[in-house]
Amino acid sequence: MSHKGHSVNAIRDSIVNLPLSPTLKANQAGVAARASGTRVLQMGFGQSPFPVPPALARALADHAGHNAYDHVAGLAELGESALRYFSDRNGVDSSQFDVVVGPGSKLILYALQMAISGDLIVPVPSWVSYAPQAAMLGDQVVSVPASLTPAGYQLEPDSLLSAIHSARSRGCNPTKLILNSPNNPTGLCIPPADYPALVDVCTREGIFIISDEIYSLVTFDGNLESIASLHPAGSAVTTGLSKYLSLGGWRVGFGLIPKGYAGLFDAVTAIASETWSGVSAPVQRAALLAVAGEPDIEAHVDLCTRIHGAVARNVAARLAEAGIHCLEPQGAFYLWPDFEPMRERFAQRGITTSESLSEALLADCGVLSLPGTAFGAPPEVLALRLSVCDYDGAAALEMCSDHNDLASLVEGFAPRVDEAAKAIVAFAQE
Ligand SMILES: Cc1ncc(COP(=O)(O)O)c(C=O)c1O
Repeated sequence: MSHKGHSVNAIRDSIVNLPLSPTLKANQAGVAARASGTRVLQMGFGQSPFPVPPALARALADHAGHNAYDHVAGLAELGESALRYFSDRNGVDSSQFDVVVGPGSKLILYALQMAISGDLIVPVPSWVSYAPQAAMLGDQVVSVPASLTPAGYQLEPDSLLSAIHSARSRGCNPTKLILNSPNNPTGLCIPPADYPALVDVCTREGIFIISDEIYSLVTFDGNLESIASLHPAGSAVTTGLSKYLSLGGWRVGFGLIPKGYAGLFDAVTAIASETWSGVSAPVQRAALLAVAGEPDIEAHVDLCTRIHGAVARNVAARLAEAGIHCLEPQGAFYLWPDFEPMRERFAQRGITTSESLSEALLADCGVLSLPGTAFGAPPEVLALRLSVCDYDGAAALEMCSDHNDLASLVEGFAPRVDEAAKAIVAFAQE
């Protein structure tokens, strides 16, 4: 029997209008433009550019023969080492957490959102995937504006409280809050001095904290304490190898799941068992070395982080000198310049939103950026997210390895970033 002419379309409502994640879309746009011969200065997709440390590459090759499934929650030895490694650095009490190893922290964030019923609270701006993940689960998203100040990325406890109350009065049921520090898109950290008041609101209102600490080892002024250290029963931490070791493609993430939240570890593990089943066995064994505290790897991580800091601070200072609002970054590899001071002049050029700004920057000077709207900012806010990692990481490591003052080397090892910064300044001053 023929079914010609009869088409079935039953894509579910929560997915049908879901666009491709803006960061991945920016990557594809950059790759396509470059492939067609256009010179693109890639400040859209953010990917740490450093090579795989040779010892880790060898470990991966050595373990290629492991072809069996591992435990759903991950190789026990890897989970224990990761817990020790991250808790030594972020100050959480390791005895209060179990660990899940996942294929990147993104899926662990999704599993946590799936496991805990209710609606999601996110500060604005926030990373691109939290809200779509909530939407995929049919949950509502409650936004709370963050203040961006020289002290950092600040969420006022009163704003949080009133957002929770007004969401409830609209019939929403906020139960979980995702915080991200160091923060993508702003490059700022939540000041640890702000934690107690935030924890206080969350405890009183029954809000679970998911602390996304994927950039915790890319912090420019020493390790950052986790908010979960103050509230271990009411917080989970997500982290992984993608950023501090430039191993995004290895897909290794860790979830520190509080023992004090009954049933949560079992729920996340059950979700894992029905979806990703386990992380690649050779990769998990190689990852053991990444969280072993081995001195050569630690020195590599330290140098990569110093290079990220030098580049991000260099670009931020140059934009700020040109009159663009751009705070000194504290971690990660992103900047969040706000072109508000140029609003009137930009309006004469037809630029009135972050999207038109991002498009004009690409058309006029080949700089690929992401509009603030991708991170939840209102359209008229003239903010962009710039990632500052379009350089040859291997060459940068070589040039910087024997230097303490890296600021003066940035132009030499990151010529495309330098060119992009000059182009943005010229564009803003036009
Ligand atoms: C803020 C933030 N959280 C989580 C992730 C997910 O990283 P992964 O899944 O590679 O661990 C990213 C990656 O871009 C990110 O920027």
